[in-house]
Amino acid sequence: MRSPVRVLELAGASVLVYGDAPSACQAAAERIAETTRAAVANKGRAVLGLATGATPEPVYARLVAMHREGDLSFANVVTYNLDEYYPISPLDPRSYRAYMHEHLFAHVDIPSNQTHMLDGTVPEASVADHSAEFDRWIANDGGLDLQLLGLGRNGHIGFNEPSDTPVADSLKLPTRLVDLHHVTLASAARDFGDESRVIPRALTLGVASILSARAILILAFGPHKAEPVARSLEGPMTSRVPGSFLQAVSGKVTWVLDEAAAQGLAVRSTVASAVKTAR
Ligand code: F6R
Repeated sequence: MRSPVRVLELAGASVLVYGDAPSACQAAAERIAETTRAAVANKGRAVLGLATGATPEPVYARLVAMHREGDLSFANVVTYNLDEYYPISPLDPRSYRAYMHEHLFAHVDIPSNQTHMLDGTVPEASVADHSAEFDRWIANDGGLDLQLLGLGRNGHIGFNEPSDTPVADSLKLPTRLVDLHHVTLASAARDFGDESRVIPRALTLGVASILSARAILILAFGPHKAEPVARSLEGPMTSRVPGSFLQAVSGKVTWVLDEAAAQGLAVRSTVASAVKTAR
């Protein structure tokens, strides 16, 4: 098991800082594998909330390697993905369904009927029903044992984008169709070739479903994540920085950072003084 170079307790969360992103990804994969094995041993199956994007790619590669080495089975894993562009075909290589197939599902023993993605092909008139149904499926499956998250450069989680909505209302947001924020469109240019070609709307798991997970593992690597990390952990809870909503659920959130993403944190020292300084 990799050891973090620093461990902080901030805003009710454990913050594990690793020397580099590969070590952090290995630690994250080990944490997901442990949660999976424990849930399968205790109740017969594990329910995982999964993220896409650049950040978790090496984590999925590590999970695939564990599976190939015979250390991890997905036969009793049920997955729910955070988001999907709208509208989009699951066959479109830019869809998150295609991403999950490429990075995880095609390489492990998960039955395809246990992988759930928001459907970018439902007619717009049915989007609200489909979104509500997705939240119900998660609840009927007993809730998420672990939600894996990345953090947008603008602080978004899933595609819950910065807004001026009062925090109390944001915390209740259900799964729904959203307009993507201009920073998200710029970041997605990587996958679409050009910002003007990015699909500007998406379906996203709501803040309420994310926060209901029994454990939340959020990953952020690189200097471009330093500001949203610091604002999420050390700033006030605000809808301008959706990562700060994780402050609402104490004791079940683990941040896994590399040194570059942690560099904006004012608190850099021991767990004891970090707690003191943060409050
Ligand atoms: C992806 C998702 C997004 C990303 C975030 C970070 O399913 O929900 O919130 O986690 O935009 O993306 P990367 O990892 O590409 O920096």
